[in-house]
Amino acid sequence: MKISKRLQVIGDLVSDNSFILDIGCDHALLDIYVVQKNKNVHAVASDINEGPLKKAKENINKYNLKDKIKIKQADGLESYEENIDTIILSGLGGVTIVDILKNKKELLPKIKKIIISSNNNYYYLRKNITNLNFKIESEKIVYEKGKYYPIIVFIPGKEKYNNFQLKYGPKLLKEKNQVFKNYLDYNRKKLIKIYKSLNNKYFLKKIKIKREIKMINKI
Ligand SMILES: C[S@@+](CC[C@H](N)C(=O)[O-])C[C@H]1O[C@@H](n2cnc3c(N)ncnc32)[C@H](O)[C@@H]1O
Repeated sequence: MKISKRLQVIGDLVSDNSFILDIGCDHALLDIYVVQKNKNVHAVASDINEGPLKKAKENINKYNLKDKIKIKQADGLESYEENIDTIILSGLGGVTIVDILKNKKELLPKIKKIIISSNNNYYYLRKNITNLNFKIESEKIVYEKGKYYPIIVFIPGKEKYNNFQLKYGPKLLKEKNQVFKNYLDYNRKKLIKIYKSLNNKYFLKKIKIKREIKMINKI
């Protein structure tokens, strides 16, 4: 089965013996990869839309995995069932991800791991999910088809992060691998462009951007 590098990295972060809920599963290729790789993983592949679930069902049948992956049509954590211990939210926007988690806050104490790969808003995601009593266990970054995809694993706990860590990732900043350095460089260029486009009316924003560029330059 062909699966993107991003989905493979996400799948490799799932622990054996876990019961996963993949919210926004689309084609369910991630779930198929994960249960094929780990003998003792079960999954609920859920999506709010019927179209993606039709594709998911076809794929699950094709690989004969009906007893391992259950399909559910639901909005966010409405698809939760007893004993699920891992939530995967990937390919959704940062605001949607946080809304999904906050809307069913009462379920979160049952969760051992949340794996996130969003399209955007990483500062917002890290800030809000850590406020829900989770800390960052590990982070990965994937570059694929001209885009960078940070992937974050949250586990229950408390840890404080500064604004720069919330934006770029405390674990990524510590590890500083080459893909992450390229990602920082890409962001630095973007910030310089924004800085140059702003007139002095936005001097406060300009100060903030300058500070961020300085921080990136120190890495
Ligand atoms: C871009 S796809 C991501 C597919 C896959 N998870 C990935 O990372 O490649 C986003 C999927 O999320 C689903 N979705 C959007 N909002 C949702 C919600 N509130 N609850 C469940 N699924 C949702 C969409 O229908 C779509 O299939």
